[in-house]
Order: sequence, then structure tokens, then C-alpha cells
Amino acid sequence: MEIPPIALNDGMMIPQLGFGVFQIPPPETEHAVLAALEAGYRHIDTAEMYGNEQGVGEAVRAAGLDRGEVYITSKLNNGYHRPDEARRAFAQTLELLGYGYVDLFLIHWPLPTLYDGDFVSTWRTLEEFRADGRARSIGVSNFQVAHLERLAAESDIVPAVNQIELNPYFRNHEVVEYGLEHGIATEAWAPIGQGRVLDDPILLELAGRYAKSVAQVVLRWQIQHGNIVFPKSVNPERIRENIAIFDFELEPGDMRKIDGLDRGEAGRNGPNPDTFDYVPS
Ligand SMILES: NC(=O)c1ccc[n+]([C@@H]2O[C@H](COP(=O)([O-])OP(=O)(O)OC[C@H]3O[C@@H](n4cnc5c(N)ncnc54)[C@H](OP(=O)(O)O)[C@@H]3O)[C@@H](O)[C@H]2O)c1
Repeated sequence: MEIPPIALNDGMMIPQLGFGVFQIPPPETEHAVLAALEAGYRHIDTAEMYGNEQGVGEAVRAAGLDRGEVYITSKLNNGYHRPDEARRAFAQTLELLGYGYVDLFLIHWPLPTLYDGDFVSTWRTLEEFRADGRARSIGVSNFQVAHLERLAAESDIVPAVNQIELNPYFRNHEVVEYGLEHGIATEAWAPIGQGRVLDDPILLELAGRYAKSVAQVVLRWQIQHGNIVFPKSVNPERIRENIAIFDFELEPGDMRKIDGLDRGEAGRNGPNPDTFDYVPS
């Protein structure tokens, strides 16, 4: 299974398809990630907030893979935006993973209504992690255009990626366009809309025509748009299904059909990053 690599703006490469572990309970994470590694995934997306970083590291070791063979992303939890707390949290991420570095470390949410709106000093702290080599790349998640513009004005490093909600019902167009113009790769979280898009009649028709599942058609649409994706599943059959998307190609007219499902802001399912202020206790 050849998973295409994407070149990031800092010269590093990231496999375009990976495996997400949001909502996988910590005791089940090693098992699920091991199934993904056995199916051929070599990129895992976790976060401090998911509480399952340890299971990710354990799975890589249980699979007998070298650290360099698997791309690992984690994200700073919302309670740790102050520089000293971010430094402590990042050190703990590395300890839980059991490795000396992550491939990519993200600010999980901008939280513009907290910390006096100061996500810039948080970003500057991630710049330290990149400088000392413990984060090969750094990026952001759920950043809106205004947040990205502020980073551009007040910091030195352009984020390598912005991980945002993106699926056929919510193309998140403005943020994607900003990324394209400024060399920031788009990672599409919940790439199959957490299952919400799977009974769409247009997608069902396309799936029948290509003899693929709806999830495969949607993931293929994401890949052809150049997005980086990491669908989550705890089911070994679906884990294998979600990676088997490199043996067909959607025709341009069918890509446009899926593009046409966009509902704009009404299609957003997750929280709005401009107001989201959840801090886990
Ligand atoms: N940065 C952020 O704020 C943020 C937010 C959300 C997610 N994420 C990242 O994005 C990753 C993916 O997003 P997500 O987990 O929320 O949603 P998702 O990958 O779009 O969808 C996962 C859901 O779809 C089901 N599913 C998976 N493959 C399927 C298939 N082939 N056919 C039918 N159903 C299928 C899964 O159930 P089963 O497990 O039962 O198969 C699960 O309920 C996360 O794991 C996380 O790494 C990031």
C-alpha cells in the first residue's frame, strides 16, 4: 500500500493518510493502533486531551517498528497554553509516548477568549520545541484566518499544518484557501464527518458506481484535494477499508459533485474555534 508523502513548508515529509485515535479509550488504544500498523498505516494522530498517548507508543513498540518508521503527531491540551505549562506538558507527552521527539506538535485550539487572547506566546513556545529538535515540525489546529494572520504578524515560523474540521458538508473554504496561499498544509479532521455523511444519496450513488464504500469515496475526495487525513476506527475491517483508497481515482465531474454538497458554516458540526473555550479539568 503506497501512501503518498506530502512535503511540508519546513522540508519535512508527512504520510498523507494516517490513523486518528480521538475517543479511543486509553486501554483500547494499543490494540487499535496495532491493528492500524498491521494494516499498513505509518502515521498516528493523537493529543494530550485524548489521554491515550501512552497506548500509541506501546503499539509502535509492540509492532516491532523503529521510531523512524512511524509519523507521530500530538497536540497541546487547552489548559496548558502558558509557556511554562506548555513546556511541562510537552515533556510529559514525550514521556508518555516513550520517545525523544514527535514528528509534529500542534496547538490543539486557539482559545482566543482565554489567556487574554494570547496564543502567540504559546506558539513561540512551540518554536522552542522545534529549535531543540524535540518536535520535528510544529503546527496549529482549529485556527481561523484571523488567528493565522496574527501569527504571521507576530512570530517567526509559519505553521507547517493547520488541522481543521473538513468534510463534504463543511469544506471550510476560507481557511483552506489561506493555507494554500501561505504554504500551510491542511489536515482534515473527522474526514468522514464522524460517520454523518455516510448515508448521503449522492455519495451512495458514487460509491455504487466506483464499487467502493462511501467512506472510501469521501477519503479519496479528501486525498485528491491534497488534504492530509487520519480516519479513526476501532473495527479492524474498517481500519483496512479506510486505507484501501489508492487503487482508484474520482473523475473531475464526480469531485465537483462532492464539492457541491458543501453547506458552508451550517455544515460545521464541531465547536466554532472563535468561541470554543473548553478546558478539561
Ligand atoms: N484537532 C481537532 O480538534 C480534532 C477534532 C476531532 C478529530 N480530530 C482527529 O481526527 C481524527 C478523525 O476524526 P474522528 O475520529 O472525529 O472522525 P472520523 O474519522 O471522521 O469518523 C470516525 C467515526 O466513523 C466510524 N467509521 C470509521 N471508518 C468507517 C467506515 N469505513 N465505515 C463506516 N464507519 C466508519 C467510526 O466508528 P468505528 O470506530 O466503530 O469504526 C467512528 O464512529 C481523530 O481520531 C483525531 O485524530 C482532531
